[in-house]
Amino acid sequence: MRQRDIQFDASGQLRHFLTIEGLPRQTLIDILDSAENFATVTEQTVKKVPLLRGKTIVNLFFEPSTRTRTTFEVAAKRLSADVLNININTSSTTKGESLLDMLHNFEAMHCDMFVVRHDQSGAAHFIAQHVAPHISVINAGDGRHAHPTQGMLDMFTIRRHKKSFNRLVVAIVGDILHSRVARSEIHALNILGVPEIRVIAPQTLIPRNAENLGVHVYHDLREGLYGADVIMTLRLQRERMQGALLPSEGEYFRRYGLSEKTLAMAKSDAIVLHPGPINRGVEIASSVADGMQSVILEQVSHGIAIRMAIMSMVLGRKPDKED
Ligand code: CP
Repeated sequence: MRQRDIQFDASGQLRHFLTIEGLPRQTLIDILDSAENFATVTEQTVKKVPLLRGKTIVNLFFEPSTRTRTTFEVAAKRLSADVLNININTSSTTKGESLLDMLHNFEAMHCDMFVVRHDQSGAAHFIAQHVAPHISVINAGDGRHAHPTQGMLDMFTIRRHKKSFNRLVVAIVGDILHSRVARSEIHALNILGVPEIRVIAPQTLIPRNAENLGVHVYHDLREGLYGADVIMTLRLQRERMQGALLPSEGEYFRRYGLSEKTLAMAKSDAIVLHPGPINRGVEIASSVADGMQSVILEQVSHGIAIRMAIMSMVLGRKPDKED
């Protein structure tokens, strides 16, 4: 079964959100437009709508997270859903219970959605294949494969600043090899029609055959940043690296760190994104992270609106005959 098929139910409505790869452009546009409406909800005094009242959402984070876990929780609560945050370290998986047995117990409690982060690529997809028909699964980051809600909130942030995608030069700088964020961003940028996507990193941090993803590869930071409208910086994912791929963090910053000097190679109105967590002085200078062109904290706010849009889309769908 192709991955796209499992994301949609029999009547063509989005049931799971596991990857951006292969999604129709219109689905991405619908999510971005819906998030615009939810962004206004989050600006109101009473930041709550009753759309998911009576629904129960389970946050299952097998890997550390600050932004994704909390913004999923805030988004669910603003939609009036009930939220269970499972502490994996104190769950009965530590007593030998399998992942699927644990999930079947949540199904027995009539939960409606699992939000899953896992260090294994394909984990969310595996879960989606084994849950009861009424359950939706959202991928909150799986190994180095995908982080689709991050990809969408980045697209939302770009659209808010640049209005359209079809004339942009977007440069992604850093550890592309281990980055699920980069993969989701590249799929989204291609689907939305960005004409020039660049990836900038040392050879050791670029996936083999990266050009097949629809990107131009640069090893020189200044060259890659030249004329860019959007710069996405990524941290070094030490926890996924096997062996020494870099000489030192100091050397990395000298060659690939985004500083005020290297940022000047991009267009003067370029925006700087970073999914977080940021490592100051490694991939980005503090003066840039906190500077006028940085939209890093806006990304966090937009994460709430995007997650409200996706959760309400998949849980608000009309049940089809298979459900
Ligand atoms: N961007 C992101 O996934 O951050 P967290 O690991 O803090 O969730």
